[in-house]
Amino acid sequence: MSSDSVLYSPYTLPCGVTVRNRVVKAAMEENMSSLGNVPGEALFSLYRYWAHGSLGMIITGNVMVDKEAMTGPGGVALDKNTDLAPFIKWAKIMKSNGALAIMQINHPGRQVFKAMQSKAIAPSAVPIDMGKHSKLFAQPREMTCQDIHHVCKRFLETAKQAENAGFDGIEIHAAHGYLLTQFLSPLTNQRQDEWGGSIINRARLLINIVSQIRAVCANNFIVMVKLNSADFQKNGFSFEDTCEVVNRLEALGVDVIELSGGSYEAPAMQGQTKDNTTLASEAYFLEFAKVLESKTDIPLMTTGGIKRAEIAERVIQQGCALVGLASALAITPDLVKKWQKQWSYSGSIPHCRWRDKSLASLANMSMVRRQLRRLGNNLTTLRDPSPLWSLVLDTLHRRKMTKRDVGSINTKRP
Ligand SMILES: Cc1cc2nc3c(=O)[nH]c(=O)nc-3n(C[C@H](O)[C@H](O)[C@H](O)COP(=O)(O)O)c2cc1C
Repeated sequence: MSSDSVLYSPYTLPCGVTVRNRVVKAAMEENMSSLGNVPGEALFSLYRYWAHGSLGMIITGNVMVDKEAMTGPGGVALDKNTDLAPFIKWAKIMKSNGALAIMQINHPGRQVFKAMQSKAIAPSAVPIDMGKHSKLFAQPREMTCQDIHHVCKRFLETAKQAENAGFDGIEIHAAHGYLLTQFLSPLTNQRQDEWGGSIINRARLLINIVSQIRAVCANNFIVMVKLNSADFQKNGFSFEDTCEVVNRLEALGVDVIELSGGSYEAPAMQGQTKDNTTLASEAYFLEFAKVLESKTDIPLMTTGGIKRAEIAERVIQQGCALVGLASALAITPDLVKKWQKQWSYSGSIPHCRWRDKSLASLANMSMVRRQLRRLGNNLTTLRDPSPLWSLVLDTLHRRKMTKRDVGSINTKRP
């Protein structure tokens, strides 16, 4: 790569911490936890690859704030009673070569698979609409005000535990259709109380979480928020809403907004929309980031569709502080080192072209997760995996993990 590229310049965040370069491993749920939903050997092996990948920052796959509300099987959860030892080791591995370690924290709300027998709660009792695949998901229950305060406390406790475990910061997941997005979107938030209606009300839970985390964690603890640039569904959360939310976050000392988009229903994070918006073929959300950058002082990061150094560099040149890569780093964990040797080296992002878009989206995720599992087993990754075979293997792995997790929940229930 051009050794003088801006990609390799350090960046100091508002909290005073410096990231050594601009390339960030974005969150990818691995579904590879050890028994008890804590990180174990498979995750340690996987993260060692990224620790040696010359990245500025490593963000974990989403860690659940409530063990009874998991996005999927084999997920990681952290609450105030969890043994911190495995998390301390996890953070140490990520930081072992100079990258910053960030824990992404999340609550799935209604976006939980029925087979998990998890708690499915949402601002309103609106189920997921994925056509014939909708039946895979649980019917959510409308949250009471007490539920909402409880969730806020959970986010706070998990952030504090991440700090205690040695993470440099957290990222609050408010994108991709999970609980905080469900509050933000008028399609899923039909409440008439102070948590619904105007964008100010819909953003209240996110704002409360951010301000409380800022109040209890150290001043140099990094606080990031992952936000949709829109949910790309008709009458959904719009880009104007995003700008308003960012405007509200501005006074709270947020270090980075990561801009993404979409949900399970409209997987814009894989480059697909449901409202006819056309996204760029690489760096899907850069155009949104450019507009947002002119309206806010919060440093921005954008993730989605980036696999080439030239594009990553463009993201920074056009106003983002950081650039996020997910899928390409699952296939080539040392992609940044490859760019250093050969600037034109292109990473790879699996792209399934099946006609059933929902199934194709699941297959895309399966192809990536298969590479994460291979790295966790210290195997080489596959650059061009078969979507069908990956889906089959992923389904078998998820079944095994579901059985394990459901079994462990049921043995604990009175
Ligand atoms: C297997 C897989 C798991 C993911 N899990 C998460 C997650 O836990 N949290 C999150 O914010 N995004 C998650 N994402 C989305 C990525 O962070 C990213 O936004 C998206 O894949 C687009 O970036 P890419 O084109 O570089 O993959 C996941 C993506 C994949 C492929």
